[in-house]
Amino acid sequence: MMPDGPDLLTIPTPALILDNDRLTRNITRMNAHVARLRARLRPHIKTHKCLPIAQRQVAGWFGGVTVSTLAEGFACAAAGFEDILYAVPLEPGKLARACALAQRVRRLAVITDDPDLPKLLAAAAAAAGVVVEVLIEIDCGDGRTGLPWDDPVGIARVARAITSAQRLTLAGLLTHAGQSYAARNAAERRSIAELERDRLQQAAAGLEQAGFEVPCLSIGSTPTITALDAPLPPKFEVRPGNYVFFDAFQAQCGVCAWDDCALTVLAAVVHRGDGKVVVDAGAIALSKDIGAPDFFSDSGYGVVGDLEGHPLGLRVAAVSQEHGRIPVSETTLLARLPVGTRLRIVPNHACLTAAQHDHYWVVAGSRVIDRWPIIRGW
Ligand SMILES: Cc1ncc(COP(=O)(O)O)c(C=O)c1O
Repeated sequence: MMPDGPDLLTIPTPALILDNDRLTRNITRMNAHVARLRARLRPHIKTHKCLPIAQRQVAGWFGGVTVSTLAEGFACAAAGFEDILYAVPLEPGKLARACALAQRVRRLAVITDDPDLPKLLAAAAAAAGVVVEVLIEIDCGDGRTGLPWDDPVGIARVARAITSAQRLTLAGLLTHAGQSYAARNAAERRSIAELERDRLQQAAAGLEQAGFEVPCLSIGSTPTITALDAPLPPKFEVRPGNYVFFDAFQAQCGVCAWDDCALTVLAAVVHRGDGKVVVDAGAIALSKDIGAPDFFSDSGYGVVGDLEGHPLGLRVAAVSQEHGRIPVSETTLLARLPVGTRLRIVPNHACLTAAQHDHYWVVAGSRVIDRWPIIRGW
């Protein structure tokens, strides 16, 4: 608690403001949803990179987390997390650090789609005296990384490389339907979610036919997990991340309501001109992610609210490094926004925004109750 600490009028801007009630509500709602899906929740902490939030997300679950950097992994290990999935494909330059992380936890799992990596990882694991679990990454249609879901021969080849190596265990298959971020409505999201689930199951069936055991099927993004409504078959683990904060993109798509957005950037007006104000939150404070411009052509870089977070019907239309330009066509509204006015901007993509700051100012209403650090670096 920060009874005599700074408030929204005195915090140096730009700053990240995290609404504690909304955060709690988002976590509670996802917990209930994943329980209905009868899956295991292994939240992705890349969205927030923050230990107090990770601790709240795993409460009541088995304690596993997903990380996107080894820095997140080491911070989690130091805080007592014992079951970590590093869900970016491992490459040879990170083997020694990954194995050093494995020394600090009960279970480290990594992912690969490469038939040559297991041998190198096994050598590093032997040098460090650890066992590392490996999930094979499958591409279920996103086209980013992973072996094609319908390539049983290629998948079995990587599985063989893992199971024939000392100190490695085949932990299962993992996929991420990143294409869900291009879905325009709930029906499209749902069919991508079903595809993510079904294609991973088909890949697993092929591997089992080839004689391998597949202990875990790991899926998830916020759009796909929220779109599923029927219980998942056994062995499924889900890895949503963005749901803790949501953001302007998710609200525009209908994945969440606007008042679910828990993260805002506090910014101050530094210039008022003809039909516009400029704030001190630019590309660095907000990020330059403009979401899906094909179908939200005016999405800009964030949706602007007043100090209480009430929407003003304004958007950040352009950013440079430290400047955010907000067109204001109504003169009465412009008159209410002199230099120094503080505004709260719902970022377009909360994960990228949060990753650029050092800490969250946690608020209950407009009262600052805490400050939580953000894990930086890789
Ligand atoms: C491998 C992986 N798993 C899970 C997620 C979480 O997705 P979301 O942020 O939509 O919840 C991501 C996000 O990029 C990811 O890359």
